[in-house]
Amino acid sequence: MKELNSTTDAIGQNLVKLISNLCFSVFVFSVLIFTVIAITYQPPDPWESSRALTGVFTQVENATFQADTSVLKTGEDIAAPWAVPAGAAEPINETVIEKSEENFASLTLKSGCEDVRVVNCSDPRLLIAIEKFNLKVFKSVVFLEYQIPVNGSKADECDVAWRFRNKKEKSWRKYRDFRRFKIGFGGNCTYEVLSARGWHSGINARRARVRVKATGRDENAKITSAIRDDEINDTIPVLGSDSAFRKGKYLYYSRGGDYCKGMNHYLWSFLCALGEAQYLNRTFVMDLSICLAGMHTQSNKDEEGKDFRFYFDFEHLKEVASIVQEEEFLQDWKKWDRVHKKKIPVRKVASYKITPMQLKKDKSTIIWRQFDGPEPDNYWYRVCEGQAAKYVQRPWRAVWKSKRLMNIVSEISGRMDWDFDAVHVVRGEKAQNKELWPHLDADTSPDALVAKLQGMIQSRRNLYVATNEPFYYYFDKLRSHYKVHLLDDYKELWGNSSEWYNETRLLNAGRSVDFDGYMRVEVDTEVLYRAKTQVETFYNLTNDCKDGINTC
Ligand SMILES: *[C@@H]1O[C@H](CO)[C@@H](O)[C@H](O)[C@H]1NC(C)=O
Ligand SMILES: *[C@@H]1O[C@H](CO)[C@@H](O)[C@H](O)[C@H]1NC(C)=O
Ligand SMILES: *[C@@H]1O[C@H](CO)[C@@H](O)[C@H](O)[C@H]1NC(C)=O
Ligand SMILES: *[C@@H]1O[C@H](CO)[C@@H](O)[C@H](O)[C@H]1NC(C)=O
Ligand SMILES: *[C@@H]1O[C@H](CO)[C@@H](O)[C@H](O)[C@H]1NC(C)=O
Ligand SMILES: *[C@@H]1O[C@H](CO)[C@@H](O)[C@H](O)[C@H]1NC(C)=O
Ligand SMILES: *[C@@H]1O[C@H](CO)[C@@H](O)[C@H](O)[C@H]1NC(C)=O
Ligand SMILES: *[C@@H]1O[C@H](CO)[C@@H](O)[C@H](O)[C@H]1NC(C)=O
Ligand SMILES: *[C@@H]1O[C@H](CO)[C@@H](O)[C@H](O)[C@H]1NC(C)=O
Ligand SMILES: *[C@@H]1O[C@H](CO)[C@@H](O)[C@H](O)[C@H]1NC(C)=O
Repeated sequence: MKELNSTTDAIGQNLVKLISNLCFSVFVFSVLIFTVIAITYQPPDPWESSRALTGVFTQVENATFQADTSVLKTGEDIAAPWAVPAGAAEPINETVIEKSEENFASLTLKSGCEDVRVVNCSDPRLLIAIEKFNLKVFKSVVFLEYQIPVNGSKADECDVAWRFRNKKEKSWRKYRDFRRFKIGFGGNCTYEVLSARGWHSGINARRARVRVKATGRDENAKITSAIRDDEINDTIPVLGSDSAFRKGKYLYYSRGGDYCKGMNHYLWSFLCALGEAQYLNRTFVMDLSICLAGMHTQSNKDEEGKDFRFYFDFEHLKEVASIVQEEEFLQDWKKWDRVHKKKIPVRKVASYKITPMQLKKDKSTIIWRQFDGPEPDNYWYRVCEGQAAKYVQRPWRAVWKSKRLMNIVSEISGRMDWDFDAVHVVRGEKAQNKELWPHLDADTSPDALVAKLQGMIQSRRNLYVATNEPFYYYFDKLRSHYKVHLLDDYKELWGNSSEWYNETRLLNAGRSVDFDGYMRVEVDTEVLYRAKTQVETFYNLTNDCKDGINTC
């Protein structure tokens, strides 16, 4: 009996051993698989293709972004079907024009054209003629809304205003143009457009702009009324009541090591934070004040106190994401603690190593990530690393470039009638660094540019040169072949009598705002994206790799 017992014992022990070994193998194997999945998993994100960013992903110890002065693509650049918001204007295309023509078919003209000897700008048939003309001439824009034409400066002229969108812009934001048209009569006494003047020439049709009283805490009370793009509404949302504050759930990030790093680093971190807030279904507490890194500033020193709205579209952001401004939030929080005996529940999180998944169940009103550690442990984006990348997605569609800057982009493209080609010439530090970019300097020399571009762009075309080359006359050799346009040719668009200047000053408590390096690159690249033929530095002008030798 004892013997038998010991045998079964032995068998049992072996079995247990076997099973536990098996279990362990399965465990090891699944951990392995899991790790592989975690490492290879890449969220669907357009920026993943950018080596600068994926490099950071895999080499966290040295997680600094290279002196990368390029601009990341933002939501409006990326081919994605945007849900059309309710009430959005329909594009005015051939079908729409035909329909309105039918409506006015009853307004037949009398024989001998008696009633159309004079140009009547408010005649609907005249607008139809202009709509047709625009559709034929400006193929790269979508026309959205026309206003009734008004008299120009002469009897046969009419000024017309409309809203449009460039076909290359993926957002539904609208821009405005107003031009002056010379009107004649066609064979059958129909109105005919003889010619159109340039961008923003129809000054009589320029709408009387709405004067709005400056409100909100951020605006200077001294500027009581101001002229602004009445389509932009990027005032800071207010929570309002005490109970509204208490009902909310917030995710609050203290400033981390990201502060004063480059703008691409900022975006990479900010969108991680916003992604976590969305994953946790919380309102993100947002610091609208940005520190602009020295690589982008005129002074070459880090500059604090830049407003998010100088660079990005806050109106769009607040429409698609739940956010509250930090100052508003802190005031409400303090007020709550003062008025009520019971403190508001706060969960403080000291390290990024506490994952978003671990916080999912937390019921505290405020989750406060503190980022006190040393660099690079105190970078916001570390929250989205590893396992978290599977759950948290960066809501990159929430970021569009500032409409105020895009108005400048439209103005530059519009002045060239959207009929231009562009070349991107990257020089600067990269051209000087012969180790990483051995041929870049030579390949972007004036003579090389002339030789290479002639094979790609027809001569006498409008050529926009987007570049970080500071020397204005560097591209003079191109001028005998092309109509060269540089960003600095449009200085008055951000000069001290410009709309941009007025509007940004309003956001900045009445102080004027520098048109800084990052804004320059934002505008430069957006104009480049609107060109018909786009020539890139890397792979079109030079065989050097974008991120240095042996990276492509
Ligand atoms: C980080 O940088 C140091 C020195 O620049 C280098 O020795 C090290 O290999 C780098 N680590 C990684 C992961 O790239
Ligand atoms: C014009 O736009 C309408 C919808 O807005 C569309 O149904 C129609 O097909 C378009 N017509 C042309 C010729 O593109
Ligand atoms: C111009 O056309 C509008 C709309 O058809 C009409 O109401 C108006 O009387 C016309 N004006 C003249 C001077 O013919
Ligand atoms: C526009 O011009 C026509 C004649 O050219 C004139 O009869 C009409 O009164 C003008 N309309 C306005 C609003 O000035
Ligand atoms: C004038 O109208 C007739 C009939 O509608 C058409 O056949 C002819 O092509 C038109 N002529 C012009 C110049 O538009
Ligand atoms: C601007 O947007 C806010 C919401 O963020 C809204 O409450 C306010 O009425 C808007 N103002 C205008 C003039 O549309
Ligand atoms: C997110 O939070 C809001 C209110 O805070 C709630 O109404 C909604 O059901 C929540 N959604 C999810 C998916 O938890
Ligand atoms: C605008 O700039 C010009 C040239 O820089 C300067 O002469 C002028 O005084 C400035 N005007 C204002 C109102 O700041
Ligand atoms: C900017 O503001 C000044 C005064 O505040 C005004 O005279 C000027 O017309 C404005 N410029 C534009 C383009 O709105
Ligand atoms: C630039 O290079 C890309 C990729 O090699 C190519 O698809 C494109 O056609 C080139 N552009 C021009 C203008 O030659």
